[in-house]
Amino acid sequence: MVTEKLKGRDFLRLQDFTKQELETMLELGLQLKADNAMRRAHDDLLPRRTLFMMFFNPSLRTRNSFEAGIFQLGGHGHFLEPSSTRLPTLEGEDMGYASERISDVARVLSRMGDAIAIRILGDVVGWEYDKSYRIIEEFAKWSHVPVINMEDNKYHPCQGMADAMALWELFGKDLRGRKIGVTWTWGSSPKKPIAPHHDFLYMASLFGADVVFSRPPEMRIDPGIEENIKANAAASGGSYRVSETMEDACENADVVYAKNYVALDLLPPVTSQPEKDEMVKLFGKYKNWIADEARMNLAKPTAQYMHCLPCERGAEVTNGVLDGKWGEACFNEAENRLHAQKGVMAAIMH
Ligand code: CP
Repeated sequence: MVTEKLKGRDFLRLQDFTKQELETMLELGLQLKADNAMRRAHDDLLPRRTLFMMFFNPSLRTRNSFEAGIFQLGGHGHFLEPSSTRLPTLEGEDMGYASERISDVARVLSRMGDAIAIRILGDVVGWEYDKSYRIIEEFAKWSHVPVINMEDNKYHPCQGMADAMALWELFGKDLRGRKIGVTWTWGSSPKKPIAPHHDFLYMASLFGADVVFSRPPEMRIDPGIEENIKANAAASGGSYRVSETMEDACENADVVYAKNYVALDLLPPVTSQPEKDEMVKLFGKYKNWIADEARMNLAKPTAQYMHCLPCERGAEVTNGVLDGKWGEACFNEAENRLHAQKGVMAAIMH
């Protein structure tokens, strides 16, 4: 049984799972969503299980969907704030009594609970691109219970699961023949993570969509992840094309996923303060990259706009798009954080 193979696994990156394993967790999440709609309880799935959640960055969707989700499964979500915990550190970064080595934090929490979920990215790690995932990996190395990645600088696998669930609900599981336009947009704060783009592209390509990804030349994504996306497209019967014109992503699209993210080439060692220097100048060249009504009208009449939220209205997307006929999928995507993560937790924590 696939679910038995999933028991006890960490949920760190989508790439760590087969397509079938991801499908199993999504299908389970959809069953639990149907239960909720029928007011059928399923709190016998993870009775008395404790999920520790460590947030080093703010969150609306992730925190509340995990907390509500573990409760609905019969367990308990325990929220740890950095201000009330000593900073968990890697070897060589100890700060006396102000910090505690990750190896020790992970082993202690493992003895008290049933999973540890972590979000760490951006300013908290001085924008060092690889560091936040290294921290999450270090937790996983020492923890005796599953570790769940709630977003680092590279990966946001829980978001990718919710995105895929929203796409399935629109088109079914087989996305072949569907054009999914994905694009960078401008943003007034050059501090938005690239992880949601990575995992949206990963899932759209895994399930066979024709993906057109538009971004300015300086806004490349992670080359290793782009190789995964190309391989997915080749294996699934979909396609992947990169363009430097936003309209290419929108034209005749079934979905337009449009969001801002940082320029990887300007992260450390170039800068650890993206708000102060080159990033702002660079973004200024592309202020007209916004998901507006004119661009959405290039897409199919039934097209939907997607974004992981929170979005910056007036910069990434207009009010008319988000609040108009294109916006519904965006809120399905947000709601599906709850259902998709319940599928993940029920599979790995049972
Ligand atoms: N999309 C997402 O992760 O939202 P939060 O930052 O509010 O958790």
